[in-house]
Amino acid sequence: MRGHIGTFIAALVAVALCGCAGLTGNAGNTGMSITKAAYGTTEGEEVALYTLKNANGVEVQIINYGAIVTSLKVPDRSGKSDNIVLGYDTLEEYIADDAYLGCIAGRYANRIANGRFTLGSSEYTLAVNNPPNHLHGGKAGFNKKIWDAEEVRRSGAVGVRLTFTSADGEEGYPGTLDTEVTYELTKENELRIDYSAETDKQTVVNLTHHGYFNLAGAGSGDILKHELMIAADRYTPTGESMIPTGELAPVEGTPLDFREAKPIGRDIGADHPQLSYGKGFDQNFILKLAPGKSPELAARVSEPASGRVMEVLTTEPGIQFYTGNFLPNGKKGRDGKTYNHRTGFCLEAQHFPDSPNQPGFPTTVLIPGRKYSQTTTYRFSTEG
Ligand code: GLA
Repeated sequence: MRGHIGTFIAALVAVALCGCAGLTGNAGNTGMSITKAAYGTTEGEEVALYTLKNANGVEVQIINYGAIVTSLKVPDRSGKSDNIVLGYDTLEEYIADDAYLGCIAGRYANRIANGRFTLGSSEYTLAVNNPPNHLHGGKAGFNKKIWDAEEVRRSGAVGVRLTFTSADGEEGYPGTLDTEVTYELTKENELRIDYSAETDKQTVVNLTHHGYFNLAGAGSGDILKHELMIAADRYTPTGESMIPTGELAPVEGTPLDFREAKPIGRDIGADHPQLSYGKGFDQNFILKLAPGKSPELAARVSEPASGRVMEVLTTEPGIQFYTGNFLPNGKKGRDGKTYNHRTGFCLEAQHFPDSPNQPGFPTTVLIPGRKYSQTTTYRFSTEG
């Protein structure tokens, strides 16, 4: 009997140390695993790297600094896996990063005009870190924070739950914001992101994932041959400083019409004011005018050479499509790769830019007692 108990305890210890979900006897998780490793230290706190794998060769790496996806390996049509997101090798590079590679942007992703908004009778002033506007939460947004992390296992998925409490007044925003972001890798080759947040004072919230994708492989060249469909017949045109005018304009007859899939490069050089402001594609597309209950298809991207396909499903009303126009040439990336202008694209599911100053846009106001939530799924497959 003692022998059996000893074996049982040894097995429990092995499962705890290994973190291999496949050993827990959960049949829905066969071949899936989570491992945790040290990634570095900052501000006296240790940062961990979580590696999630499924049985189909998909592997996601996440750090609890910035809630960043540092690597995402997906098989091509011949089964060869490659990393398809831009990233760095070290924590120091993520700390220095100003391109938001792979992070969660918040408390308010995207721009707020002149770094100002009013709620009730109070006016709030935020950092103007993208002159003349506020961008992605300010000088030290959620992409520069150390999050608490715990491993998640459920039938058919393994993941990491990240939590961060943003103090009342942090970066100028009112209210203590308890934020939770759960990344899960599913056995259906999805990277699912569930977000939620609660506040103790009226505030604004807009969270998104800022991954730069290149389905041919990060560092393999530009993304102009990727074929993109966006399920939006309208977008929010902006002025020169990328702040929406408030208009909801049709994509029809413009280079922003992605309702039928077309190569990203086909119209990127078109003579159109919206393309000149962002130096390429950098627009918010309108999926709907209120958040949905369950994720719906927002975009589909395919890359002809590798056969990789990515679908984006979301509950969010908008999606910012950005073609890495501000990436400098010769940027040092991970695994000895170099990234240049337009070598990654972002599909950032979110509310519309500058919503706190735009009464006609879906609201981003969160009040105490209510819960902000959104779900976005990046689903991978191959074709051809
Ligand atoms: C978002 C914005 C872009 C740019 C990047 C970060 O995608 O829309 O204009 O600021 O973030 O470089």
